[in-house]
Amino acid sequence: MEMNQPIGRTPLDDRPDGLVGKPLNRVEGKLKVTGRAPYAYETRALENPAYGFIVPATIASGTIRSIDAEAARKAPGTILVLTHENVPEQGEKKEQVWPQLQGTEVRFYGQPVAFVVAETFEHARAAAMLVKVRYDAAKPKGLLKDSLAAAYEPKPVNSPPDSKLGDFDAAFAAAPVKLDVEYVTPNQIHAQMEPHATIAAWDGDGVVLHTSNQMPNRGQKALGSVLKLPPEKVRIVSPYIGGGFGAKLQVQPEATLAILASKVIQRPVKVALTRQQEFHVATHRTDTIQRIRLGADTEGRLSAISHESWSDTAEGDGFFETSANVTRSLYAAQNRVTRHRLVNLNMPIASSMRAPGEAVGQLAFECAMDELAEQLKVDPIELRVRNEPAEDPEKKVPFSTRQLVPCMREGARLFGWDKRQAAGSRREGNWLVGMGMSAAARLNPLMPSAVKVRLGPDGVLVVRMAMTDPGTGTYTILTQIAGEMLGLPPERVRVEMGDTDFPFASGSGGSFGAASAGSALYVACDNLRQALLKAGDLNPDGATFRDGAVTSGNRTEALTDLAGSGLEAAGEIKPGEMKQKFSQYSYGAHFAEVGVDVDTGEIRLRRMLGVFTGGRILNAKTARSQAIGGMTFGVGAALMEDAVVDPRYSYFVNHDMAEYHVPVHADLPEIDAVFLPELDDKANPLKSKGLGELGICGAGASLANAIYNATGIRVREYPLTLDKMLKGFEEQEGQAQRRT
Ligand code: MOS
Repeated sequence: MEMNQPIGRTPLDDRPDGLVGKPLNRVEGKLKVTGRAPYAYETRALENPAYGFIVPATIASGTIRSIDAEAARKAPGTILVLTHENVPEQGEKKEQVWPQLQGTEVRFYGQPVAFVVAETFEHARAAAMLVKVRYDAAKPKGLLKDSLAAAYEPKPVNSPPDSKLGDFDAAFAAAPVKLDVEYVTPNQIHAQMEPHATIAAWDGDGVVLHTSNQMPNRGQKALGSVLKLPPEKVRIVSPYIGGGFGAKLQVQPEATLAILASKVIQRPVKVALTRQQEFHVATHRTDTIQRIRLGADTEGRLSAISHESWSDTAEGDGFFETSANVTRSLYAAQNRVTRHRLVNLNMPIASSMRAPGEAVGQLAFECAMDELAEQLKVDPIELRVRNEPAEDPEKKVPFSTRQLVPCMREGARLFGWDKRQAAGSRREGNWLVGMGMSAAARLNPLMPSAVKVRLGPDGVLVVRMAMTDPGTGTYTILTQIAGEMLGLPPERVRVEMGDTDFPFASGSGGSFGAASAGSALYVACDNLRQALLKAGDLNPDGATFRDGAVTSGNRTEALTDLAGSGLEAAGEIKPGEMKQKFSQYSYGAHFAEVGVDVDTGEIRLRRMLGVFTGGRILNAKTARSQAIGGMTFGVGAALMEDAVVDPRYSYFVNHDMAEYHVPVHADLPEIDAVFLPELDDKANPLKSKGLGELGICGAGASLANAIYNATGIRVREYPLTLDKMLKGFEEQEGQAQRRT
């Protein structure tokens, strides 16, 4: 099925109280909490693996003068030491998957320079410490703010780097109310719980990877290019993933190195990144500098919007953070500019992380809107309502659905927004207290996916696709969709995923997983329904599938009778014209209340609420969990997450979870997420929209705005830490003294 038309009435609409939407517990939950779900590093299918350990570069720029691996090779248990001098030949880089150990050039700290393989993990690690690498080090280019003169227009990734409409300069110059501000967001680390891990084993001229990867089909293609193999010779198996957050969208160096070493020693090779290596060997989210200019009339109606963003990555990679993309569709204005520029630095490779683009773009833009509201003395919700566009302001097509205003209004009601006071005017003991809000929007993509379903003689429906579940709930929602379509209880649906030997699927990323995989499954189940009806010679009109049977007219037949020795069907979804004809986003509004200690500057989140729309909600529990998880990311982005660069060495100083802070339970008091009813018939046959990343979009900005409301201090450099608050207090005191 290609999404070329809006979807009419479907079996899912007939049963709003059916399995789809129910807060079903995770179907694989028991396996996980009892430790029986095999994660990549624990896969026991492969006999006698050897263990690998990566030796990362300890300089960020320069060349390898020599590698002395003698001691490592002679160390107990060592099987192999790979360096640029003996690494097998490789092909071309593809989709940020780089050939490994190529030549002597070092481009970033953490770039693998050797790979040690030994009988045990301990042997491999000990031998890795004995590898002596001598470098000719150069001074690294390490800070974005010092390198803006070298910024260039990057190649489009999924969208052009720039957009332009009308005459921004003239409109901005003429606007009676203006804002021109710069926001800074720091480098961040995905910090998923399970590190990157792979067991690679060759089987004839092909290789099998047990790995932790969000998009196995994409990884298969990229590795095919790097290994100079047809993609089908690379099999990726990734049934359980302990979090990805974008870090596992692409194959990272540990997998490539395991494959290369396994080929040399003709034995499975097993490797995981250490937590410290996660920061440099694997990808991260780049820092950004964003300049936002807004021109409005005295009522707050925008005439000019400009959003420019600078980001950086390792030389030769080309990934840029699409911070300003969402600004292209969010608010009305006749004259608009968005622009992305990239700087090549000697930093580790930057890539997608937790709502790439939108997450950091809205950290900046939603605060700029708050600043404009403050300047105009207009309520921030009212300001957004006044700039609500009738259609997509740049694409000039209608929105498929857009309930931003209802989300803001309902959120205001539930949160008690009417009790919000003027900035700096609410004090409770030592705490200055304030409320803030922000809008949330995230692109709703649909990706090609395919699936096979088979109803066996045992009455169990088996679903197979190369889809993944990085902890989001994919197993569960697919179980619900199949169960609902065929009238089977969840126990009679078995979802098998994460294997490139299964039909091609989108994988999990960009908030497209549930819609893409789920739609393919919907189509397959619809096809299976037709096949079952045909097998029983039943009239399809008004046929209903319930309790393991189908009823048509006055006949009811058990599905097992119709399926005989088994009945199979396939399904496929592809994006189509609906993507061009409608602007598709999920929306929401965040509300936060914070307290700031007047003496120490300590910031405490007191409560937080998100109100969202994402089309049909496939599982009320996993959807809410996703949203709250995203909001938690937002709290981290606002208050603590910061991978600090040491400019002398261009590495992240705080490269472990003791020093790189993410929110813990004590940081998160009352936090809730609710969804407003919605069906999007332009999105996909499920009428659902992407939710995975919606929760983070704008979330941190609501805290930043609440901090401003509490204190009257606007900090434009994330994260908002107490030192920045203290500086703000000092400035306020200075101003107060000057006034007296
Ligand atoms: Mo997401 S950053 O596309 O996993």
